[in-house]
Parts: sequence; C-alpha cells; structure tokens
Amino acid sequence: MDEILVKGGRPLHGEVSVSGAKNAALPMIAATILTGGRFVLRNVPDLKDIETICQLLAGLGASAEFEDNTAIIDTTDLFQHEAPYDLVRKMRASVLVLGPLLARMGRARVSLPGGCAIGARPINMHLEGLEKLGASIKLEHGYVEASAKRLKGGEIFFDIPTVTGTENIMMAATLAKGTTVIRNAAKEPEIIALAEMLNRMGADIRDAGSTVITIHGVENLSPVEARIIGDRIEAGTYMVAAALTKGKIRLTGADPAHLKPVIHKLRECGAAVKTVDAGITVQGSDVIRSVDIKTLPYPGFPTDMQAQFMVLMSVANGLSVISESIFENRFIHVSELRRMGADITISGNHAMVKGVSRLSGAPVMATDLRASASLVLAGLVADNTTRISRIYHLDRGYDSMEKKFAALGAIIKRVPAS
Ligand code: EPU
Repeated sequence: MDEILVKGGRPLHGEVSVSGAKNAALPMIAATILTGGRFVLRNVPDLKDIETICQLLAGLGASAEFEDNTAIIDTTDLFQHEAPYDLVRKMRASVLVLGPLLARMGRARVSLPGGCAIGARPINMHLEGLEKLGASIKLEHGYVEASAKRLKGGEIFFDIPTVTGTENIMMAATLAKGTTVIRNAAKEPEIIALAEMLNRMGADIRDAGSTVITIHGVENLSPVEARIIGDRIEAGTYMVAAALTKGKIRLTGADPAHLKPVIHKLRECGAAVKTVDAGITVQGSDVIRSVDIKTLPYPGFPTDMQAQFMVLMSVANGLSVISESIFENRFIHVSELRRMGADITISGNHAMVKGVSRLSGAPVMATDLRASASLVLAGLVADNTTRISRIYHLDRGYDSMEKKFAALGAIIKRVPAS
C-alpha cells in the first residue's frame, strides 16, 4: 500500500487541468446499462471508483475498455442482473446500477451498501422511489431484490434531496410506462449532466437541475457518445490549495458556475478569484480571514469541500464555525488535523476552528476520500514532512493528485508503505 510524503512550506504556482467529475462519470456509466449498444464516454477520470464500476459492468456481461480517459462500453449482451457484495462494499455508488438494471432487465439483485466512514447512508429513498414506480422490493441475505415486468410512472417526494437517489429514479423512469415526477429532487450539476446524456439517448426528461423533475417514459433508448463535465470538487480542492499556500493557481477544465459557493467563501477569506471562459484563477492573500461554513445540498456549500476548508480555517486569522448538515459523521479528519497542531473542538455537527500560526508535519492516516485530500492540503503548509497512509481512499477520487501538486511546485511524492 502506498503512502504520500509532503514537505510543507512552498506557495503553489502554475496551471492545473481539472479531470472529469467522478460523481458525473459514475451515473453516466451506469446509464449505459439502460440499452444495448456501444457507448463512448470521454474525459473519464482515471480512478479506482471508475475501475470498480467498469468491473461491475463486466460482471453483468458488458465489455468496458478504458484508455486515455475514454471509456468504450458495449452493453449489447447483458446476461446478469447482480451487483455483488465484493464490489458494492468497495464503492457504495454501485447502487446506481439498481434503477437501470431494473428498467432494462425487469429485475436487479444489488448488495445493500452498509454504512461508511462518514455516516449510515441508507438507501431507503432509492427503494421507496422504485416501489412508487411499481417495483416489488425484497431485502434478503444482505441484498436488494427488485423486480418489475415494466416500471410505470409515479410521483415521488424525497424527504431529503438525495443525489444518487435522484439519479437512480431518473434512470429507471426513462423506460417506464407513463410520466414520473420527482419532487424535492437534488439539483447538482452531475444530475443535469446525466439528464442531458439520457435525453440524447432518446429519453424525455424535463427540468433536471430544479427541485421538480418530470420524466415521460419512452419505449426505447439508443447508445450515444458523451463527455464528462469537469470535477467541481477536485477543482475546489486545488483552489483551496492556492489560498492556503498563498500562491496563485490557474485551473482549466472546471465550470466556475458549478463552484459559486466555494468561490464566494474563498473571496470572503481574502483570496482573489477570477473567472474567465478558459478557467479560474485563485490567488491567496497574505492573511487568511476566518469564515463560517454550513454544508447544504447544491447550490449550497458542498459537504465534499468541508474537510478541505477546515484546513484553510485551521491557519486562518480568528475563529470559524463549520457546520456539517449532510452527513452525521463527517468530522473524522479532525483528530488527524489536531495531531498536526490544529485547534479544533467539535460539538455535535459543529466544529469550532481557531486559527493557529502553523501546522506541524506528522504521520497521519486517511479515513475517507475528502478527509484524505484535507490531510494532503494540511501537509502543504505544515513544518517538516507529513506522511499520509491509507491513500487508497485518495485514489478512489483524485486523478494523479501528487503529480498535479508536484507540477505546481509542491514537494510531494508517493512511496511504498514503510
Ligand atoms: N439519505 C437517506 N436515505 C437515502 C439516501 C440518502 O437518508 O435513501 C441521506 C444520506 O444519508 C445523507 C443525505 O441523505 O444524509 C444526502 O445523501 P445523498 O443521497 O445525496 O448522497 P449520495 O448520493 O450517497 C452523493 C455523492 C457524495 C456526496 C453526496 C452529497 C456520488 C457518487 N456521491 O452521495 O460524494 O457527498 O452526494 O453531496 O455522487 C464523495 O465524492 O466524496 C462523496 C461522498
């Protein structure tokens, strides 16, 4: 297992190219299950999670080739309808195959994802939604067994906007008989990207990106070529790195419109953020002002950027309150940041972060994807060397992170675990 070594203290300068969004690529790859044929997806990030979903598709009978950020997927001959435990436990987003499998094959057997480091993360709303579309759902031996001859349109009201829940229902409803309305739908850019791909396949989805999505079921879909949008969370992570190291970074490949809450908070902290068609430039200021943050569903501040902002606040001037309202256990990075000298107190879902003048390098352990990214960021401004272990979490969601940081001037390398 590899580790990352970071020696802090260098302001980062230069240009970074943002990869395709993991959380857009995963549902778009799942959507290829909906119909037989050859799909070409471009700008797919080179990540463990993409490898996992391609393995899942291969297990269903599809072929999936991946080269130079292009995935060529052929779903002509699907003979299986099961997402096995061994793959789902590696990646909860495997549940995204449930809706498409059910719509195409009339049945699906998908291992129930357990809780994960950041929270219990149930999938009850996915299942209730599919039941509203006429599916019969049984939970047996740790698996969801879903069946329906043909799904029918229905009205779904989510208690909380769920991102993958909205995607699962949207995909299932494309081939249902009649009209489906999803109320209190999630509005993330990844949902719009998926709806655009589905519509190009022949689906009739209206108003994706708003709280009410309407899907008129169609009889057939056809394969398409599609391009994955830029990863707003990867972009946000590099933007924080610029502010944190008091450097200047230009990002290409990300859409500033997807990053409004992050840009707003960075400006409040004192960073200069400029957006032009070709990219986003972030220049850190000498003094980082502390700001309060509350995570919310899109277009609110993303929970996937909370850990990275906490590092920025750890070295800011003053006290910041960070409130996590999406996941119940998403402060696992705090104990590791404290070991690096951060002054953070937790009370319920609030973290009180008192800025300190310096962090100190230490051996730390990655616990989930975004927490891992926050430890790399902390290492960039810590004295001496930070050794981050268990970085397989990072490899799930950041394409070539250490190479991208090294190209910006960071002293960082990947080494085999000692
Ligand atoms: N929830 C339920 N029941 C459900 C579904 C969700 O109670 O049936 C709760 C969750 O436990 C959570 C809230 O609803 O408290 C919102 O969760 P959501 O379903 O939106 O999360 P998700 O779809 O499982 C996606 C991203 C996550 C991101 C969240 C929130 C993908 C593949 N994953 O997860 O990304 O944090 O939305 O924005 O799109 C990451 O990339 O690091 C990551 C964790």
